[in-house]
Amino acid sequence: MSGESPASDEPSEALSRIEQGLAALGDRFREAFAACPTEPSLRAEHAKLLGKKGDLTAVLALLRDVPATERPRAGALVNGFKAEVEREFEARLAALASAALEADLNARPFDLTLPGRLALGRGHPHPVLAVRDELLAIFRDLGFQTAPGPEIELEENNFTKLAFPPDHPATDMQDSFWIKPGVLLRTHTSNVQVREMSALAERVRAGASPRLAVVSAGAVYRRDDDLTHSPMFHQIEGFLVDERVSMAELKGVLAAFAERLYGPGTPVRFRPSYFPFVEPGAEVDVGCVFCKPNDPSRAACRVCKATGWLEIAGCGMIHPEVFRHTGLDPERVTGFAFGMGIDRVAMLRYGIPNIRLLFENDPRFLAQF
Ligand code: PHE
Repeated sequence: MSGESPASDEPSEALSRIEQGLAALGDRFREAFAACPTEPSLRAEHAKLLGKKGDLTAVLALLRDVPATERPRAGALVNGFKAEVEREFEARLAALASAALEADLNARPFDLTLPGRLALGRGHPHPVLAVRDELLAIFRDLGFQTAPGPEIELEENNFTKLAFPPDHPATDMQDSFWIKPGVLLRTHTSNVQVREMSALAERVRAGASPRLAVVSAGAVYRRDDDLTHSPMFHQIEGFLVDERVSMAELKGVLAAFAERLYGPGTPVRFRPSYFPFVEPGAEVDVGCVFCKPNDPSRAACRVCKATGWLEIAGCGMIHPEVFRHTGLDPERVTGFAFGMGIDRVAMLRYGIPNIRLLFENDPRFLAQF
């Protein structure tokens, strides 16, 4: 009871004024905090109260006049006040955050099906890859299975086992990118023949039948660079091995392929040619897809150079040497192989005059497909 309190407990005037000041500030800040509609305004009020030039600083100036005996009490009062402000501040922050969340959740529902605001447009396969997949699909329909093959290859698989004699001018003609002696960027996809036939030979030794029909597509590399040649380009390779495969089957497969790609009745012709890994070897032409036979405009056709034919592939019957090098018995199996450029098919398909356009990745070009 106050009556029983000793007189020394009566606060000094300075302390009373601090008490009153804190009480008044307490009423004000609670009201101000409650009235703040947003977190930034709440933080501003908080700073106004506790900041260096804030309202509390004015009250603290009175501490100077508080007698030493009352200092601990005054300090406790001030600290209690500050703690209360912080408690209230945190509580209001949390209340504002949950109110904001609540408002968000109750706002117009978020429609996930609306189109985005950034007009990014839809991507699509690169024309070369689109054509690659189309070619692979045709051969898959004809019964070929797909196989991968590495772009960095042993000389052995790229040249030697394909019966290129050492220092054969072909290795020079292809003017390859050597990584180190014995290792190069493959100059054609025919390396897959070697790899797949070697694996087949292993299965045959284990009793499997010597049948295999494979297609493989990917990048190949040669030191070539002009309007129609790029140092990196793409090929698709196919081959079929079995007992008693003949050149008639090779012609049948490629004729069926040409019809699927360029339409029924597309003429195909085979011209004798040389590749070390086939015998006989041929180059395959299809009737020019831009001018028709007996077309008066043929003389002016720049695509087929007025010949009426477009070269699309190299092919032939797999050389007995290749069978021997891969561990297959040339007395038992025969087979055919072919290889064609994918980029050229894409260029013909879309009327692209310069192969480099395909690899510069200019979106203004690629967006046209
Ligand atoms: N590998 C040959 C080339 O790149 C093409 C080819 C493949 C020829 C298969 C015959 C058989 O020119």
